[in-house]
Amino acid sequence: MSTRELITGGRQWLGRTPSAGRWLARLAQALAFAASGVVAFLLRFDLRIPESAQEHLLAGLWIWLTVKCGLFAVAGLDRGWWRYVSVHDLAGLLFGNLAASIVAAGALLAVAPPGFPRSIYFLDFILSCVATAGLRVMARLATEAARQHAGSLGRRTLIYGAGAAGQALLRETRLNPSLGYEPVGFIDDDPSKAGARIQGLAVLGPGTGLAGIARRRGVETVLIASPSATGAQMKEILSRCHEAGVTFKTVPSLAEALAGRPTQIREVAVEDLLGRSAIELDQHAICAKLTGQTVLVTGAAGSIGSELCRQIAAFGPALILGLDTAETGLFHLERELRERFPSAAFCPVVGSIRDRRRLAEVFRTHRPHVVYHAAAYKHVPMMESHLIEAVENNILGTRNVALAAIDSGVSDFVMISTDKAVNPTNIMGATKRVAELLIRTLDTPTTFISVRFGNVLGSNGSVVPLFREQIARGGPVTVTHPEMRRYFMTIPEAAQLVLQASTMGKGGEIFVLDMGEPVKIADLARNMILLSGLRPGQDIRIEFTGLRPGEKLFEELRLNDEDALPTYHPKIRIFAGAEPGSGHMMAAAETMERLIAQRDAARLVLALKEIAPEYNPSAHVLRQIVDEPVEIGESLTRLAEAVDAAPRRIRSGSGVTIVK
Ligand SMILES: NC(=O)c1ccc[n+]([C@@H]2O[C@H](COP(=O)([O-])OP(=O)(O)OC[C@H]3O[C@@H](n4cnc5c(N)ncnc54)[C@H](O)[C@@H]3O)[C@@H](O)[C@H]2O)c1
Repeated sequence: MSTRELITGGRQWLGRTPSAGRWLARLAQALAFAASGVVAFLLRFDLRIPESAQEHLLAGLWIWLTVKCGLFAVAGLDRGWWRYVSVHDLAGLLFGNLAASIVAAGALLAVAPPGFPRSIYFLDFILSCVATAGLRVMARLATEAARQHAGSLGRRTLIYGAGAAGQALLRETRLNPSLGYEPVGFIDDDPSKAGARIQGLAVLGPGTGLAGIARRRGVETVLIASPSATGAQMKEILSRCHEAGVTFKTVPSLAEALAGRPTQIREVAVEDLLGRSAIELDQHAICAKLTGQTVLVTGAAGSIGSELCRQIAAFGPALILGLDTAETGLFHLERELRERFPSAAFCPVVGSIRDRRRLAEVFRTHRPHVVYHAAAYKHVPMMESHLIEAVENNILGTRNVALAAIDSGVSDFVMISTDKAVNPTNIMGATKRVAELLIRTLDTPTTFISVRFGNVLGSNGSVVPLFREQIARGGPVTVTHPEMRRYFMTIPEAAQLVLQASTMGKGGEIFVLDMGEPVKIADLARNMILLSGLRPGQDIRIEFTGLRPGEKLFEELRLNDEDALPTYHPKIRIFAGAEPGSGHMMAAAETMERLIAQRDAARLVLALKEIAPEYNPSAHVLRQIVDEPVEIGESLTRLAEAVDAAPRRIRSGSGVTIVK
């Protein structure tokens, strides 16, 4: 068996039985105490202990072992990670030994046979310090030798960032040779660190010299340890890695670390290029809202709903009810939550928000206190061809959940809305806007609020998974328009802010989350190609396909006639404005229900326009609801005729603008 196998085997055994390692360390320490006592006697009596002193030696050993082992255990000095031992630990050992020697000397004076040699007290103290410190230093040296031996088989690696994260990463790679990295130096853009040695490893220079350093040192991989880097800084580091022809990985950002994400080395993700800062939550307020409560999440199998369930689980609710029509999604979520949050009770509920009887049953049985309503149809182009389904699911579904919540005395109802509800140009956005208005105007003891935000990265069917798939297939990556921009945030970020906003609602507010700066979709595509180690335009083509029905180049996040009010949270604002009365909205919902029963898409669109005059139906929608196709120039007249022909009750008072 080779040395490496021996070390790895021993390490694995200790890893499997951590208590065995601890007891081994204690045993070694007890032997060190005994040895220092014996050597103290040998030194005192010129290496020949007389028979008359053997009685003293036995008493000394007995007392030293008892007192020192006991005191070191109480002070936690036998528990430290010896392989990490530092000067700070050695100072602790000095004080521990001093205290133990004083207590032992007191005990010896009281119980040892008379004539105990006085010089032994001092000799034993010095030897004990040397032995305990020496043991630790030896453990550290042995670990370093082992890791150097093992590390020499790993990939030659530079650590980008010589701060706390970089140093922790260095320790981690040395302690876990199985990770397969052999750090050969640090890279750091701070000029004051150039040439410094940290834990024996040199800072070789700034990132601008990465390519040269990598070439000279035969570097294969860069580990990026810069948790507070902005998106722009991350992009710069990646382009340097590309230039140097090395692979790259990273460690979790501050945001992830604060959110309790695992801290292992991972691939650089597209989220890292957004450089989102960590979100600070008012944990007390969220606990007060959720701890010990029954919480219902609709659309729980979806991207937003499932993340809400994960975040809520961390706040110790009595029960999370996850309602969705997607049974497989619920199945996976239940399994995941059971593993990650064993103490949180999760109950999957298969059912539709369109089914009022099922909702009544669920609310009656479980009596939820808080509802997060995330179930919806969300795909913009698809909904443009499914007008009736979109209205039925997103508007009437919301009404159904809201009425069931009121009936069962729910205290808080939070609807997940979207930036597409602002001046909507598509059916999806229009239905979400009407749903916002519907719950906003309900006059009940239940607190109803909406939370609006832009796209989240990596949600089901969004651009990130689509681009990933296209890159894996060898391209092209399809982007609708070179100027298309979207607001993006991460799913955990959105879910956390939704929970925070839900603690602020008094009733009727529309909260809007700060999305940062909008991102060009074409840039996102380029970055994702770079992240997969390929060159945009050369290895993978980007193809522009043109805007799809109902799509906007930019999404707005607020209505023009509404005022922005700050909240105590910098990333959450409130929009407030005059809205129709509740009777109007409920009557409108009933009208829409009747039109759905009659499959009357044209009047349904007019009804949407009536309720949300800022809705501009797309040409695609208008083509479906106007019998004959018309030239764009004529369509206003034709539409006006259609409006005239519609029953007065739902006729729109405002004109219809056609958007391409
Ligand atoms: N994904 C985003 O980028 C984003 C951004 C802002 C707002 N939102 C909003 O968040 C909500 C959820 O979006 P998502 O990304 O999680 O979508 P998703 O498609 O991943 O999840 C929606 C879930 O709702 C369920 N659902 C649909 N109709 C249902 C019904 N009748 N009864 C029960 N369950 C039903 C679906 O099965 C699905 O699991 C939508 O309202 C969306 O507009 C999403």
